[in-house]
Amino acid sequence: MIDIRILRGDEAHHRIDELATVLHDCVTKGASVNFMNPFSMTEARDFYTATAGAVARDELVLFAALDNDRVVGTCQLVPAKKPNQPHRADLAKLLVHSNYRNKGIGASLLAAADQEVKRRGLKLVTLDTALDTAERLYERAGYIRAGVIPNFALWPDGGYCDTVYFYKWFE
Ligand SMILES: CC(C)(COP(=O)(O)OP(=O)(O)OC[C@H]1O[C@@H](n2cnc3c(N)ncnc32)[C@H](O)[C@@H]1OP(=O)(O)O)[C@@H](O)C(=O)NCCC(=O)NCCS
Repeated sequence: MIDIRILRGDEAHHRIDELATVLHDCVTKGASVNFMNPFSMTEARDFYTATAGAVARDELVLFAALDNDRVVGTCQLVPAKKPNQPHRADLAKLLVHSNYRNKGIGASLLAAADQEVKRRGLKLVTLDTALDTAERLYERAGYIRAGVIPNFALWPDGGYCDTVYFYKWFE
């Protein structure tokens, strides 16, 4: 039974190692999520240490999927800071450990993010993803494909990777 919930305050700090393990698994298995291989657990921990700091400052909402009280998936909702975008947030770092994929965890994390978007009265969520990786997932969740930028980033093992932008408007 997978438990999807928001990690608040100290819990994000306590689960840095578990979150880092998921990120490390994804990057070392080829996910283009800002990092390059070789990718160490130290780098992964550094990323989630910074994330936990942002949670403590209320700058982002960190979601986790837990199996037996261990993080196996995660995503983030990052409300825009710009004064003219109070209605917008970015969805970022949707990651599911490779041992737990194709069970609906990614979709459940997106559904939890949707709930929080509505609770906060936000109207627009934007995201970008490496072409092909999660496109069907986002489209099923109601995201609209805005366009592709060729060669935007690199795959973690090298080679250009196209990026596709999505958005979702909440009535
Ligand atoms: C993209 C990612 C988050 C998807 O996570 P996931 O938990 O596997 O997602 P879901 O299980 O909800 O959906 C994946 C597929 O499994 C299918 N599925 C869902 N539940 C299922 C079940 N019970 N039985 C069989 N298949 C199922 C879905 O229909 C979907 O099919 P599709 O590939 O044809 O679209 C995951 O692959 C990942 O972490 N990838 C690496 C990181 C990455 O690239 N993230 C995106 C960055 S923006």
